[in-house]
Amino acid sequence: MVNFDFISPTKIIFGKGTEERVGSEVARYAKKCLLHYGGGSIKKTGLYDIVVNSLKEAGVEFIELSGVVPNPRLSLVREGIKICRENDIKFVLAVGGGSVIDSAKAICVGVPYDGDVWDFFTGKAEPKECLDIGTILTLAAAGSEASNSCVITNENGWYKRGLNHDIIRPKFSILNPELTFTVSPYQTACGIVDIMAHIMERYFTHTRNVELTDRLCEATLKTVINNAYKVLANPKDYDARAEIMWAGTLAHNGLLGTGRIGDWASHQIEHELSAIYDIAHGAGLAIVFPAWCKYVYKANISRFAQFATRVWNVDYSFENPEQTALEGINRMEKFFKEIGMPVTLKDANIPDDRLEEMASKCKLPNGDSVGHIVKLTREDVLNIYKLARG
Ligand code: NZQ
Ligand code: ZN
Repeated sequence: MVNFDFISPTKIIFGKGTEERVGSEVARYAKKCLLHYGGGSIKKTGLYDIVVNSLKEAGVEFIELSGVVPNPRLSLVREGIKICRENDIKFVLAVGGGSVIDSAKAICVGVPYDGDVWDFFTGKAEPKECLDIGTILTLAAAGSEASNSCVITNENGWYKRGLNHDIIRPKFSILNPELTFTVSPYQTACGIVDIMAHIMERYFTHTRNVELTDRLCEATLKTVINNAYKVLANPKDYDARAEIMWAGTLAHNGLLGTGRIGDWASHQIEHELSAIYDIAHGAGLAIVFPAWCKYVYKANISRFAQFATRVWNVDYSFENPEQTALEGINRMEKFFKEIGMPVTLKDANIPDDRLEEMASKCKLPNGDSVGHIVKLTREDVLNIYKLARG
């Protein structure tokens, strides 16, 4: 196990009806807030009215900024920053999925910063201050409700880049699994893949003696897989939605990665897909992850074989552990297909004429490489896109 700092300061308010508490929770921090949301799903479901009433009852004034799109855009972040500055707003309430929460986080670091907020995403500057953030989560997927991450797309060049900093973790997040009943089967499946990817990016490591977090990762993965079938069969299965929602938070609040070095290459490789083709992040991961696994598994066959036996119930072959490892990857891919995800670029109608461009744009955080299980160069990234063509 390697040394670690673990911080997860977000208060989680979980369960039925909890969204009604939002006004009093915000009022603990501010008497005025920016109410930030997406394309209108919260109006259709009635959540908007509940939030507005609760804020009014608690005496919290608000200004609205809607229109966050999946793969949230920098231009709206800039608009939010301007609104907050002009109205002396110190709190942003995000109501929606990962995109809304990420947009809120970017606004919150942008307001107190003199320069351009994009500096935080290029690594030019590090945030020193951040407004307070609260969230009501409506989609189990990104884990942004308790994570230290925020991913924004700059339309000028279609760069999708992340900021990771503990300062952006929300003060509170309200999680009512009932609010996810209306999420479409496709978006539900995208969320499931994203949750699994957050666990697997931590699980695939060379770090030894990490039994506790191995077991936590395996348990969380198995819970998500088991309940995926249930929510897709019955979208209003509260208990199954609850399992997935809580798993989504734990998958990405940092706990499952404690004491181990994660990989994160698949996420970087996927971000180029969703930046250029604007596909759902989870769908992009369903395409990239199997290809990445097939490309790197030989670097740690025993770990991939452990994944196969413990998560996918593959019988271990003492004569041929490599076969065990490969069978685990096959079962993961089959599961993604079963839940309605594309597993190749072709499945998602993505042409292969811009693979070189994506490989060139892919962020290589280690200087000239990305990832840990195998340190992937630009050429490796290109090979993974090619492997994902189908
Ligand atoms: O915009 P609205 O109308 O709300 O509709 C959304 C959107 O169209 C809809 N939706 C959300 N809740 C719903 C609902 N529809 C019906 N009923 C509900 N209850 O779902 C669509 C997708 O929403 P989005 O927020 O984009 O999805 P998700 O939560 O998967 O977030 C994806 C974004 O998060 C980033 C991704 O890259 C992507 O940009 N990520 C953020 C991370 C983080 N901050 O920690 C980590 C992840 O790895 C990820 O990169
Ligand atoms: Zn993700």
